[in-house]
Amino acid sequence: MGELRVERLKKHYPARRGSGHRTGLRVFDDVTFTVGEGEFVSVIGASGCGKTTVLNLAAGLDTPSGGSIFVDGRAVTGPGLDRGIVFQEFALFPWLTVAENIAFGLKSMRVPGEQRKRTVAHIVDLVGLKQFADYYPNRLSGGMRQRVGLGRALAINPSVLLMDEPFGALDSVTREAMQNALAEIWIETRKTVLFITHDIREAVFLSDRVLLLAGRPSQIVLDLPIDLPRPRGRHDASFQEKERNLEVALRGGSSQTGDSGEAPAPREKTVSH
Ligand SMILES: Nc1ncnc2c1ncn2[C@@H]1O[C@H](COP(=O)(O)OP(=O)(O)O)[C@@H](O)[C@H]1O
Ligand SMILES: [Mg+2]
Repeated sequence: MGELRVERLKKHYPARRGSGHRTGLRVFDDVTFTVGEGEFVSVIGASGCGKTTVLNLAAGLDTPSGGSIFVDGRAVTGPGLDRGIVFQEFALFPWLTVAENIAFGLKSMRVPGEQRKRTVAHIVDLVGLKQFADYYPNRLSGGMRQRVGLGRALAINPSVLLMDEPFGALDSVTREAMQNALAEIWIETRKTVLFITHDIREAVFLSDRVLLLAGRPSQIVLDLPIDLPRPRGRHDASFQEKERNLEVALRGGSSQTGDSGEAPAPREKTVSH
């Protein structure tokens, strides 16, 4: 359980008068990739290339102009409990405690009380909030709130976890701490994860594979395996080499969209590792 398959995905926005897009916008025409069971895959790319669009389509919050998405072979036609979602903005219920926020999905799934309690206790512990189970969100730091968001997504035991720049609003110290926490949680749970970020270092630290989305309409121009042992050292030479590979590719990719004045770097489907 836990394979996400994206096939020939297409998203176009029609031309609209006064929208500035008189010819319409082809975000992408043909995006295909698979996140295997238990795999952690990141999508990186310049702002506006369509990362959030891919995630929203996978979440079932948006409808594609073409192509399909499958979770464990079932076509995505709308939101569902087989997918847990974590957004950048925390979106917690302010009137519910940490434990109650995490229990929310379980309640709507009508999980019986005792089982719900056990699951919540396990998840609260997993995301490192044991001491804060009875706190309301307004008393938590940004990092802690994002732990609650992650806990809430994990509590329903989804096949796939979808995360859109979840740490994008955090300061750099908290951000690194959260990356460490997520790496540990992932080792423990081995969830299938589709993770969106524009931070190369974050992608290398967390992922089994990094996909680079670039161009207009955008395409996956690189699928780079990150075959480094975990836990990973951000200062290791092999880590930094992966970062450099992606930086070169990202610069090459974004110049194609006209966002950068630099000459395009050579782009390859795969980079040797
Ligand atoms: N509802 C919409 N109508 C028209 N264009 C949109 C809409 N939503 C997003 N876009 C455009 O689609 C492109 C991709 O957006 P997005 O997926 O948010 O990019 P990213 O997450 O990579 O920054 C952008 O050019 C954005 O302006
Ligand atoms: Mg986005």
